[in-house]
Amino acid sequence: MTATEIKPLSIKEAIETRRSIRKYVQEPMNQDDLREILRLASLAPSANNVQTWRFAVIQNPELQAKLQDVSYNQGQVTNAPAVIVVYSDMEDTLATAEETVHPGMGAEQIKSRADGLRGNFQNQDVAQRGQWGLTQANLAFAFLMLAARGLGYDTVPMLGFQPEKVKELLGLPEHVQFAGILPIGKRAEDGFPHHRHSLERITKFY
Ligand SMILES: Cc1cc2nc3c(=O)[nH]c(=O)nc-3n(C[C@H](O)[C@H](O)[C@H](O)COP(=O)(O)O)c2cc1C
Repeated sequence: MTATEIKPLSIKEAIETRRSIRKYVQEPMNQDDLREILRLASLAPSANNVQTWRFAVIQNPELQAKLQDVSYNQGQVTNAPAVIVVYSDMEDTLATAEETVHPGMGAEQIKSRADGLRGNFQNQDVAQRGQWGLTQANLAFAFLMLAARGLGYDTVPMLGFQPEKVKELLGLPEHVQFAGILPIGKRAEDGFPHHRHSLERITKFY
């Protein structure tokens, strides 16, 4: 039975049972489940609906081995049946801004909103606006982990890799910025119990 055929976890169950998992059951990802997880992540919100996130999905042991080489040899990169690289492409977003405006707005509004968005960023350099784009992509990165867990899968978010080498390996443009890479599959270990600050430590109620 695939995850899309079983009852999805509630949001509470998905959040509480998500843990970083670094050892996976050795079976390929169900491709329908994988696409459903990516679709759910793409429903993340973003400022002006810019949707700066882009996904590179790797299900190829040779490429995973090369990715592991540039990820400080972290074993989960090859142990997982798939790895999703999540990055932000703000330059593509600006160049194609018309696509992110709701079609119901009509041609004139679409053009003026898209031009407006480009205008907002014209005085920022590529790295600066790239950083803004990344804050949007990070939302999809988090949605991805919870969507995966909700459908019975496990992940480990990773920033332990050499970004320039990952760009080279995947043929990504120099300007993209990474939210992280995400090995994904079914858990073959329990992971560590959560250890978090208390609510009092991190919250001020006014
Ligand atoms: C942005 C980010 C980067 C991380 N990078 C790595 C990494 O490179 N390797 C790794 O094993 N875990 C990595 N982690 C996992 C964290 O260690 C883990 O989320 C944290 O200890 C809390 O544990 P939990 O995810 O099981 O709740 C990363 C987590 C985040 C959110």
